[in-house]
Amino acid sequence: MRYLLLMILPILNLFSEPITPLPLDIKTNPAKVALGKALFFDPILSLDGTVSCASCHNLLEGGDDAKVFSTGIKNQKGTINAPTVLNAVFNFSQFWDGRARDLKSQVEEPIVNPVEMGNNFENVIKTLKDSHYRETFDKLYHDGISKENITDAIAEFEKTLITPDSPFDNYLRGDKEAITQMQKEGYELFKEKGCIACHHGRNVGGNMYNKFGLLISIKDDNLGRFNVTKDENDKQIFKVPSLRNVAKTAPYFHNGSVSDLRKAVYFMAKHQVGRPISEEEVDKIVSFLEALTGKPPKSLNE
Ligand code: HEC
Ligand code: HEC
Repeated sequence: MRYLLLMILPILNLFSEPITPLPLDIKTNPAKVALGKALFFDPILSLDGTVSCASCHNLLEGGDDAKVFSTGIKNQKGTINAPTVLNAVFNFSQFWDGRARDLKSQVEEPIVNPVEMGNNFENVIKTLKDSHYRETFDKLYHDGISKENITDAIAEFEKTLITPDSPFDNYLRGDKEAITQMQKEGYELFKEKGCIACHHGRNVGGNMYNKFGLLISIKDDNLGRFNVTKDENDKQIFKVPSLRNVAKTAPYFHNGSVSDLRKAVYFMAKHQVGRPISEEEVDKIVSFLEALTGKPPKSLNE
């Protein structure tokens, strides 16, 4: 299936742009968004009250934590790089191995993960019932505070974490001056070099799985999608990440092994497409990727 797609895509591209602009808005329930936002920034969800979602997903700085691996409660280190939550709503599944089908089912994991927030829902619900949140939940949900409703509110807030006004989106919507000549050349190279085969669609990724090290295999302890499917063919297969805001999400890859964007592009050219690439071409592609940086989501100022 993957390979079939690689063959068909270039043909489809003749008819339309392989990357489409993001919708400017997504319909959400404002009251639930406000609740979800408060919870996202509140360490009350963690066992010892020290870590919030925002500790690892800094929404003003790319939506991740700028670390190789994240730090959870009691200074514990994780084992996989934190992806951005910006535009995550547009990904076809959540997590590097796609084990959560949507934002709502994703929320559960960090709260109970022993090295992240280390809590359990019985305790979370009890703590929230003794707090000012009780009234808000009772107003918004007929059954008040529950796992279902906590995850629902946070997911509702996450739907607002979109960055549809990047220079490249404005360019795709018709403003031909929105990006520089160098960025235009970078976009052409991004297509010519074959990056587009995996990083396409409105999220410039986030809509398929592929092998990390497709052409040159990479030594890695993380089995990726295999953990979910137990299919031998899925070893070292990961979700192709969105490249939106990628200039702000170093370090790169699920193992955080590459510290800057130039190196990440060079690495991809070598390991994913197996094509030689010059310094100048790397610079142009990086310049194009910088045009994918949007303004911070509007909901952060509301
Ligand atoms: C201790 C750091 C930490 C905390 C706290 C944390 N996360 Fe994450 N988050 C991560 C890491 C690491 C991953 C990647 C895990 C994986 O793929 O296996 C991740 C993945 C995600 C993803 C998937 C994005 C994608 O594109 O696949 C979303 C969405 C997300 N987190 C939202 C949240 C929310 C909401 C909270 C609070 C309830 C939260 N995170 C708390 C570190 C953290
Ligand atoms: C065959 C599919 C495929 C092709 C072609 C491909 N990529 Fe990727 N790309 C991936 C996958 C899969 C990952 C995630 C790898 C991982 O960390 O496990 C990734 C990750 C990245 C990242 C890091 C993103 C992050 O948040 O960590 C960048 C940057 C990137 N690719 C750019 C490019 C560029 C530029 C090209 C063209 C030279 C390219 N890719 C070609 C599949 C592909």
